[in-house]
Order: sequence, then C-alpha cells, then structure tokens
Amino acid sequence: MKRILVTGGNGFIGSHTSIVLLQKDYEVVIVDSFINSSRNFYERIKILAKRIDSNLLRRIIFFEGDIRDKNLLEGIFRKSANEGKRIVGVIHFAGLKAVAESLKEPSKYWDFNFIGTFRLIEVMEKYDCRTLIFSSSATVYGCSKDFLISENAAVNPINPYGHTKAAIENFLKNIYDSKSDKWRIACLRYFNPIGAHSTGLIGDNPNGIPNNIFPFINQVAIGKIERLEIFGNDWDTSDGTCIRDYIHVMDLAEGHILSLEFLLENECRFINLNLGTGIGTSVLELVNIFQEENKVKVPFNYADRRVGDIARIVADNGFAYSLLNWKPTKTINEMCKDGWRWQQVKG
Ligand SMILES: NC(=O)c1ccc[n+]([C@@H]2O[C@H](COP(=O)([O-])OP(=O)(O)OC[C@H]3O[C@@H](n4cnc5c(N)ncnc54)[C@H](O)[C@@H]3O)[C@@H](O)[C@H]2O)c1
Repeated sequence: MKRILVTGGNGFIGSHTSIVLLQKDYEVVIVDSFINSSRNFYERIKILAKRIDSNLLRRIIFFEGDIRDKNLLEGIFRKSANEGKRIVGVIHFAGLKAVAESLKEPSKYWDFNFIGTFRLIEVMEKYDCRTLIFSSSATVYGCSKDFLISENAAVNPINPYGHTKAAIENFLKNIYDSKSDKWRIACLRYFNPIGAHSTGLIGDNPNGIPNNIFPFINQVAIGKIERLEIFGNDWDTSDGTCIRDYIHVMDLAEGHILSLEFLLENECRFINLNLGTGIGTSVLELVNIFQEENKVKVPFNYADRRVGDIARIVADNGFAYSLLNWKPTKTINEMCKDGWRWQQVKG
C-alpha cells in the first residue's frame, strides 16, 4: 500500500482528493496548518471516511503544522521511513489563493507559496521522494486571447498570486532538469473548482469571508451574506459578466489520482496539465442555474470590475484526455446542487 503526503489536505480540493486516495487504497498523510481550514473540518473528513468504510480511518494520519517549517516536514518523512512506510509521492495543495489579498500582501504570497514549496522540495530530495503533483492554476495564463487555452499558451500572470504559481512551475522545471532521471512532476493548472462531495459532508470551507465565487453564492443563499457582488457587467461577453470554466471538485480529485498513477507508473517526466471542462459559463449564468436548480434566491448587484480580473478563461483539456484518459463527468447543475447540499449540511 503506497503512502502519499497531502499538504493542505484539510482544505477544499485536498480533502476531496484525500478521500478518493483512501478509496483507491492509498495511505494518506495530511499536513495542514489550519490557516484556511479548521480542526472541525478534519473531523468531517474522518466521519466521511468512516461512513464509506471504517477501515479507511486506519489509513489516514494528520499532522498539524506549517510546511515552511523544515523540521516539521523532516519529522513527517522520517517517521514514515522509520515505520517502514516510505512516502512515495506528494500532492502539494498547501498555499494561499486569494488574488485580491495577494495584491495587498505580495510578500505573504511569496512566503507561503514559493518558500513553502522550496522547503518541501528540499525535504523530498533528502528523503529520496521525487514524485510531486503541484496545485498550479489557470491564473498563470493571465489575459490570453485564445478561445480555449492549451498548455502551450504563453504564461503571463497578471497578479502576485499568479506570479507565485508561475515561479513555482519554473522552479520545479529547474529541479526536474537537474535530475531528469529521478524526478516525476506534474503541475496541474486548475480552472474554477466548485461543487462538493455528494454526501454534503465536506466542501469548500474557507475561514472568514470567502474569496471565491461559489462559497460566496452559498453564503448569500443561506442568508449569512446579504448579497453577491458581481464584478463588472460590461465585459466583452454575451451577458457582460465574466466567463469561467467551472469544474466539479470530484472530477478534479480524479484528475489528481490519474496524474499520480501516471507519474508513478511511467518514466520520469515533467508535465503541465490543464484541468477544466472546456465549457465556459458566465457568472450570471452560474447564479441563475444555482437559483433554479436549488430553488433559492441569490440577491446580487453589479459592482466595478476588480483589478486583475479577465473577461474569459476556458480550458483546452485535450492533453489531460489524451495522456490520462481523464474527462470531467459532472455538469454545472450537479456542481450547483452538490455545492448547495454542502452548505445546508454545514449550516
Ligand atoms: N480553489 C481554487 O479556485 C483554486 C484554483 C486554482 C488553484 N488552486 C490552488 O489549489 C490549492 C488548494 O486550493 P483549495 O481551494 O483547496 O484551498 P484551501 O485554502 O481550501 O486549501 C489549502 C489548505 O492548505 C492549508 N495551508 C495553506 N498554507 C499552508 C502552509 N504553509 N502549511 C500548511 N498548510 C497550509 C490551509 O489551511 C488549507 O487547509 C492551492 O494551492 C490553490 O492555490 C485553487
């Protein structure tokens, strides 16, 4: 049974991926500092794992701490090695992700995202673990004019958050090039993950006021926030609101498992991979589908465009299909339904 370290495994995407890893017979070691999640949420992950199969609980281990702390990371790798259960791969979610905050506090983003990854690589080298899946982002493309963006499009980020992701991708490519017979690395460029586990037991659970649109819609629908602000209705799109490529978090989780297995089973490689559906949905369409599907109201008003936003970004996901046979299966309606179920269960 292979043991995988999941940094940031108590967050939105990390928690769903950890559950799928457990179901696919991996052992999962989570490290998370709770900077954008809670201890309570880890209890939910355990409840879900137990509900699926009580044996899964024996295969999940949790460490509280910050990945910038090299001693902590070394301790995790050492403990596993001493138990005769070497960590064979890392899925690296831990990082900060709010574009607006990154504009105000760029140093914080370089520290958490870049330095965090730097420390992780140092410790992976030391413990001879050289398979890594990195959470990159479609943000690295910036303002591409391509109708569908492929991995070959120019990397041209337009905000500090995107710059940290692009710099990490470059750093990881340097690491790979330095020992291309040893490292296996995939940078997964996510588009807009939303939705939640179909049980409603886990979902996107940010600390404080949400930065991403979906938890915001959820909190407006349940009455915690008065109304949604839609940033700009004068974009060059069919209804004037921004178009994004929303992808169900469970499809995304599946993409991680397939990427991990591809890396573990094949020769050393470095890959950049888009994970999106290839379908564009405007913010207004998303709000309307959410309201219709869930029979709830989401009051909104239009506000000015945000600095660092772009009109449209939709994935060309052909490479992920040809390489991994990965194809997203869930519709935008299912994303809205599952995401809202999570909000209702959570309260
Ligand atoms: N959600 C998105 O829209 C999106 C899109 C593209 C890329 N990403 C990237 O995917 C990754 C996961 O995103 P998410 O939506 O699950 O975010 P999240 O905030 O829900 O999860 C991240 C988790 O990492 C933890 N964490 C952060 N810094 C840490 C550190 N230094 N040490 C230990 N734990 C730390 C947080 O407490 C949190 O539990 C992030 O790197 C993010 O940049 C997210």
